Amino acid sequence: MLQRKKRKIFVTSALPYANGPIHLGHLVEYVQTDIWVRFQKLLSNFTVYICADDAHGTPIMLRAQKEKITPEELIDKVWKEHTRDFSSFFIAFDSYFTTHSEENRELSSKIYKNLADKGLVAVKKIKQMFDTEKQMFLPDRFIKGECPKCMAKDQFGDACEVCGATYNPTELVNPKSELSGKTPITKESDHHFFLLSNKKCVSFLKQWTTESGRLQSEALNKINEWLKSDSTGKSMLTDWDISRDPPYFGFEIPDEPMKFFYVWLDAPIGYYASLKNWCKKNDKNFYDFVKPDSKYEQVHFIGKDILYFHSLFWPAILKFSGYRVPTAIYAHGFLTINGKKMSKSKGTYITAEEYIKAGLNPEWLRYYIAAKLNGTMEDIDLNLEDFMNKINSDLVGKYINILSRTSGFVTKFFEGKVIDYTTINNININISDLEKKFSKHIIDIQNNYEQRNTSRVIRDLVSLMDSVNLFIDDNKPWILAKKIAENPIERESLEYVLAVSLNYFAKLTILIKPILPAVALRVENEVFNIQKPWLWEDIYNLEIKSINPVGHLISRVDQNDLQKINNEV
Ligand code: MSP
Ligand code: ZN
Repeated sequence: MLQRKKRKIFVTSALPYANGPIHLGHLVEYVQTDIWVRFQKLLSNFTVYICADDAHGTPIMLRAQKEKITPEELIDKVWKEHTRDFSSFFIAFDSYFTTHSEENRELSSKIYKNLADKGLVAVKKIKQMFDTEKQMFLPDRFIKGECPKCMAKDQFGDACEVCGATYNPTELVNPKSELSGKTPITKESDHHFFLLSNKKCVSFLKQWTTESGRLQSEALNKINEWLKSDSTGKSMLTDWDISRDPPYFGFEIPDEPMKFFYVWLDAPIGYYASLKNWCKKNDKNFYDFVKPDSKYEQVHFIGKDILYFHSLFWPAILKFSGYRVPTAIYAHGFLTINGKKMSKSKGTYITAEEYIKAGLNPEWLRYYIAAKLNGTMEDIDLNLEDFMNKINSDLVGKYINILSRTSGFVTKFFEGKVIDYTTINNININISDLEKKFSKHIIDIQNNYEQRNTSRVIRDLVSLMDSVNLFIDDNKPWILAKKIAENPIERESLEYVLAVSLNYFAKLTILIKPILPAVALRVENEVFNIQKPWLWEDIYNLEIKSINPVGHLISRVDQNDLQKINNEV
């Protein structure tokens, strides 16, 4: 076993908007991060997993109006639903906070002031669509009209879903407000901009993004597109509009009455606010995490749609307001269901709550997501037939099967006692193949967890499950059990075969723990009477002493289960 220095890591998942439920697409991200965090904790690396609800912005304000409650009431209600959903999928945040907090107001104001002091904020006049009936400026998604390029009807104010063109809402033909149905007017207003196109920012980002380990290679390709210079040598980055006019649910900009921070300014700062709140509760020094020479790694898990915010705005904001920069940004792809995009209108939208209410096991989904993710930004598909086959074949047919094939004999012949097989050497049963295969694969599995390549983790785990089952096939405990009455030496062989199989089952359990935390906990506590949770290093010095008969650790998925969620699809 490699002796390493323990790492200190601060990890985030993107903050879900507080205006809708958690769905299976979101869960790709939270399951991926949770597996990685659990893996780091299993290695005894000091790891803090931070998240929060993203509580500001126009959609949240409007949804509250529609429900005839205050935005505060809405975000409280949604916070409760989100935390309930996350815990039912065993997503173990150390802190789940909200961006609508005093910590976040203070940090956002401070960061803004530091940027302004550095000369990186400027006020510019811009023209925007204004709904005269609702008396508010309209975000792009609240205006619809005809695409200026292909004239397709019913397109949003930012991009055309038919021809893919992107444009300004003021370019839409025959625009209508989604709120009042009226034709909006164009109105001028002062907005605050973060000067991302400033030379200092551009040269910092050109360097930061290419430093080793910061970004995946496909992410870097995208970012290089954004960072590259035009024919005059000027970078294509544009300044970023960080203010909004009222009515807006958010924080007022200090000393700028009636101007609010755009939700995407205070959202990533919400990572720090949540961490700060956790530090206060856990007697830790927040500054140690966020100072420029911090010893902590800062790792962000995100979906590919929010790469721009996390790999350009966020590092630049941190750098120029005097904080440390992120260590790495890990982006994943999008979830489709049976090959279709998740969408309410297409009926391929399953919420976390619906999945649980249909009686499906959350660890099935964790396992399936893990089996699909490979550490890249490729999209992944939840194919329900494949989902059923994979769970039944791998988890029930291979992993739990090891226990089912052996535990009954231990109870029946040895009163639940398991011997220490490593001290026995007068038995002619070969375990060296098993030993060799495990020692090689354990290293690979560890590396692949680190790289978020859980599809390979699972491929290797399944191959190890196969080897243990093969060992049982070769040594046939059921035959040994029959022979015991005639020949007492068979008793020792049986005891040996069972001890080996169960020890390797326990090793597999440690290896799969980040993916199936609840099953692993039951194996520790209920099957093996282990009170202190296993750590990764225990793979190398396991001591199983006894087992209890425990049924139904994981049940099979059947057509009926698929039917229950298929109804939604
Ligand atoms: N509030 C912003 C993030 C702010 S972070 C400072 C946001 N919220 S979100 O609710 O729309 O998405 C939260 C995360 O879930 C994002 O990383 C997003 O990419 C991810 N996903 C949302 N739908 C998804 C799929 N269908 N598939 C995979 N991930 C998806 O963006
Ligand atoms: Zn078009």
